[in-house]
Amino acid sequence: LPLHKVIMVGSGGVGKSALTLQYMYGDFVEEYDPTKADSYRKKVTLDGQDCQIDILDTAGQEEYAADFREQISRVLDDDSVPFILVGNKADLANSYRKVTKDEAAAKAAEWGCPYIETSAKTRLNVDEVYTELMRKIRAR
Ligand code: GTP
Ligand code: MG
Repeated sequence: LPLHKVIMVGSGGVGKSALTLQYMYGDFVEEYDPTKADSYRKKVTLDGQDCQIDILDTAGQEEYAADFREQISRVLDDDSVPFILVGNKADLANSYRKVTKDEAAAKAAEWGCPYIETSAKTRLNVDEVYTELMRKIRAR
C-alpha cells in the first residue's frame, strides 16, 4: 500500500497531539500531556484508493517555531515538501486568538502553502487537513 508520511510540528500546547488523536481515533483529549515523540499509522481510503498514513507527532518547541518550514526543507534537502499551515483551536472565542487570520494567511502566502483553521475539539477541518496533505504527497 502507498504510505504517506506526515509530521506534526509547532510550538508546545498548540494541539498537535489532539489533532492527531482526533484524526486517528475520533476522540478529543482534554488533558495536556506534553509529547516526547509518538507515531501512529492507519489504513485509510484516499479518493477510493487504499493507502496508509503514518503520523509522527513531535514534541513542541517554543524556539524557532517560525523556522520549522525552512529547517524541514533544508534537512530533507527538498524544496517541494508539501506543507499545510494549521491554525488550531478555532472553537475558542476570538478573544483567545493569538494570530489573526490575516497574519496567518500572509505567512501561508509567503510559504506558498494553504492555511486551514481547525478544531481538534469539534473536529472542524481535521479530516480535511490530513486528506489534503495526503493528496499533495501523492501528487509529488
Ligand atoms: P506538545 O506535545 O507539548 O507539543 O503539545 P501539543 O501541540 O501536542 O498540544 P496538545 O494536543 O497536547 O494540546 C494542548 C492542550 O490544548 C490540551 O489541553 C488540549 O485538550 C487542548 N486543545 C488541543 N486542541 C484543541 C482545540 O482544538 N480546541 C480546544 N479548545 N482545546 C484544544
Ligand atoms: Mg503533543
